[in-house]
Amino acid sequence: MASLQYLLFISFLVFFVAPGLAQQSFRPKALVVPVSKDASTLQYLTTINQRTPFVPIRVVVDLGGRYLWVDCERDYVSSTYRPARCSSAQCSLAGANGCGDCFDGPRPGCNNNTCAVGPGNTVTNTAGPGEVAQDVVSLQSTDGRNPGRVVTVPRFLFACAPTSLLQGLANGVVGMAGFGRYRIGLPSQFSAAFSFRRKFAICLSSANGVIFFGDGPYVFLPGVDASESLTFTPLFINPISTAPSFPLGEPSAEYFIGVKSIKVNEKPVSLNTTLLSINSEGVGGTKISTVNPYTALEASIFKAVTEAFINEAAARNITRVAGVAPFEVCFSSRNIVGTRLGAAVPSIDLVLQNENTFWRIFGANSMVEVSREVSCLGFVNGGSNPMTSIVIGGYQLEDTLLQFDLATSRLGFSSTLLGRQTTCANFNFTSNA
Ligand SMILES: *[C@@H]1O[C@H](CO)[C@@H](O)[C@H](O)[C@H]1NC(C)=O
Ligand SMILES: *[C@@H]1O[C@H](CO)[C@@H](O)[C@H](O)[C@H]1NC(C)=O
Ligand SMILES: *[C@@H]1O[C@H](CO)[C@@H](O)[C@H](O)[C@H]1NC(C)=O
Ligand SMILES: *[C@@H]1O[C@H](CO)[C@@H](O)[C@H](O)[C@H]1NC(C)=O
Repeated sequence: MASLQYLLFISFLVFFVAPGLAQQSFRPKALVVPVSKDASTLQYLTTINQRTPFVPIRVVVDLGGRYLWVDCERDYVSSTYRPARCSSAQCSLAGANGCGDCFDGPRPGCNNNTCAVGPGNTVTNTAGPGEVAQDVVSLQSTDGRNPGRVVTVPRFLFACAPTSLLQGLANGVVGMAGFGRYRIGLPSQFSAAFSFRRKFAICLSSANGVIFFGDGPYVFLPGVDASESLTFTPLFINPISTAPSFPLGEPSAEYFIGVKSIKVNEKPVSLNTTLLSINSEGVGGTKISTVNPYTALEASIFKAVTEAFINEAAARNITRVAGVAPFEVCFSSRNIVGTRLGAAVPSIDLVLQNENTFWRIFGANSMVEVSREVSCLGFVNGGSNPMTSIVIGGYQLEDTLLQFDLATSRLGFSSTLLGRQTTCANFNFTSNA
């Protein structure tokens, strides 16, 4: 008898409640945010809405950052701010082990019985104390072609940092958004909130680029779906954190790929291959970074690659001139011809898991025009003992779509979209909601 009643009760619920639920819970398949490039710092910025009432906050895009952190000392007003209580699930998700009190509060960032993390400013490589907290965040969903309905995540986890941590960041910015491989990285939190695949894609531009959370399509005007024809390569985990401050034993949240060799004009450059793999101290290897404006190569790699480039350029009558900081290798623009893929200069290939899998860098991503007469190779010398041997920087990423699949630990990259007659600035941001 009891079980029959129970069954009836269940069917009653399903019948009357489910239609209502279905109506209310619009579940986006993907989300989209715009990205702009700050002309003076060369940082890539994005805007999301946070707090109650909503405030658009500008933050620096930190591809390998662990989570969102924002300045809470200045102008943080929100009725939905909730600090994470000591020993709560939120604290452990954030990787916080301590427990603290704060005496000049209560206010966002200063509450008793809360846990703290060490948010990092990866531009200046400094860290500060940060109260773990939750607040509402909203952004636009997308069908991959246009932005659609606005969706909200009511309890988005982030760290509340002091104003001083903003030093070195672009004007008007209030923090950094971490897209790293971390439990509370932006991609992980959004895919958990809406139950979509743990994938995201970035497409940076010298003007206005775009970031997608979730799977493709990722369509750019006039109708190019950049999620088609991606080349895939495994992502590697560096067992040692590369963050400015981190709990002992934490792996890096940054995205490492396996560059096995480098070719200039399709000819292999001789390199010390030990530097290309990550050793047990976490040193070496290749990572992708949006906070480095230009690719940085360890000194011996820099020397080998630039010598090969200078020689191949000379064979095209492209003559070297004095360097212009931060670049050491510059050329007279006189014999440099323009093409659809940028300056016609020797290509640079990052060869990956096999000879047929490579990331080819054409002139549009290798040459920086510093004046009408001079163009420089947009790579910088990373010095002789860098933590990471090759740091692929923002300029080399522009107009290339990169899709990170956290579930399969795989990177998909397009060749330059310029070759497909579009750019990362061509997402149609007109809403079709
Ligand atoms: C934290 O607790 C101390 C005493 O235990 C109190 O003096 C202080 O005002 C409290 N601070 C906040 C932010 O509530
Ligand atoms: C190659 O690099 C490793 C790591 O820095 C170094 O220990 C080794 O001496 C280098 N080998 C050569 C031949 O320079
Ligand atoms: C380079 O310049 C020399 C002399 O002016 C000329 O003979 C040669 O054809 C040029 N080579 C190329 C690749 O333009
Ligand atoms: C951009 O999308 C809007 C909304 O769907 C559409 O009306 C418009 O024609 C699109 N723009 C272009 C250039 O296709």
